[in-house]
Amino acid sequence: MTIRSFFDSTSRPLGGRWRPFFLASLVLAGCAGSAPGSRSFDLQAHRGGRGLAPENTLAAFSQAAALGVDTLELDIGLSADGAVVVSHDTRLNPDHTRDAQGQWLPAQGAPIRSLTVAQLQAYDVGRLNPATAYGRQFATQQPRDGERIPTLAQLFARMQAQGATRVRFNIETKIDPTRPDETAAPEPMVRALLAEIERAGVGPRVTVQSFDWRTLALVGRLAPQLPRAYLTSARTLRDSRWTAGLAAADFASTPRLVKAAAAGGPGPVIWSPAFADLTPEALREAHALGLAVLPWTVNQRADMARLLDWGVDGLITDYPDVLRSVMAERGLPLPAGVPAR
Ligand code: G3P
Ligand code: CA
Repeated sequence: MTIRSFFDSTSRPLGGRWRPFFLASLVLAGCAGSAPGSRSFDLQAHRGGRGLAPENTLAAFSQAAALGVDTLELDIGLSADGAVVVSHDTRLNPDHTRDAQGQWLPAQGAPIRSLTVAQLQAYDVGRLNPATAYGRQFATQQPRDGERIPTLAQLFARMQAQGATRVRFNIETKIDPTRPDETAAPEPMVRALLAEIERAGVGPRVTVQSFDWRTLALVGRLAPQLPRAYLTSARTLRDSRWTAGLAAADFASTPRLVKAAAAGGPGPVIWSPAFADLTPEALREAHALGLAVLPWTVNQRADMARLLDWGVDGLITDYPDVLRSVMAERGLPLPAGVPAR
């Protein structure tokens, strides 16, 4: 069984409390060595596909589901009134945020956690600020004026209303352990996230990902059946505050570090490295350890093609249209799109 067919086989709503999915051994055996060529490949739209539509907005997620992706990648924080909101940034971001008068924020704004949902949704995040370097980075992004920072509940409801009932959610808790005052602490954020997932009945379609591995330890304890994705970058691997106290130097390799961090839980375990840090050797080792490997954020055709050749289990990209075309060139099956209603 591949990791994707595991996901598919559990995509029915469970209702009420989650039930354990399958034996870890079955899942992990399935992850090992999965290769492109089957529908096991996981095409993920990063922030909903910010190369095409404003990041982390309902417009982007809806467009990605219509285009046809397996998974919507997104980031979350907690608002002042305790709602799970979809935002990459811990503060309002002047690169794509305008106030109620239509003025770009001149600098970083208030922390997300200091504002209620109503206050957050007074801002328009449907267009890039052309005066900033970040704003000039995504020339093909089509603005959608009027888009707001959505709540996670609104995203789940939108996908349900669209009929995108098979699309998966790869949800990243945005917590920086080196700046604990900037966000909610791991436990309140994880508990709020799990409650939202349960309310929407989407548990079988969710992966929780984080650079802050304390989050993933909590998920392993509170919802052990959920897939967990261990994000890594050169920066986070240098500082054990990100890796829940484990020192990377004590391990022979990053896959071994991830394997040790994830020990114990029955849910699938994914390693999500920055794509430029991945080598074929590390990929082979991760697969041998039973880890699925999903690199981020891969936007160039040549990189997509190379990583597909290596046999990664999926790719996270800002350009799901480009990845679909690379997959099509290779005769790989593509996820079906679900048009917005
Ligand atoms: O899925 C991982 C990727 O999203 C991490 O990067 O900064 O875009 O959240 P970032
Ligand atoms: Ca992310």
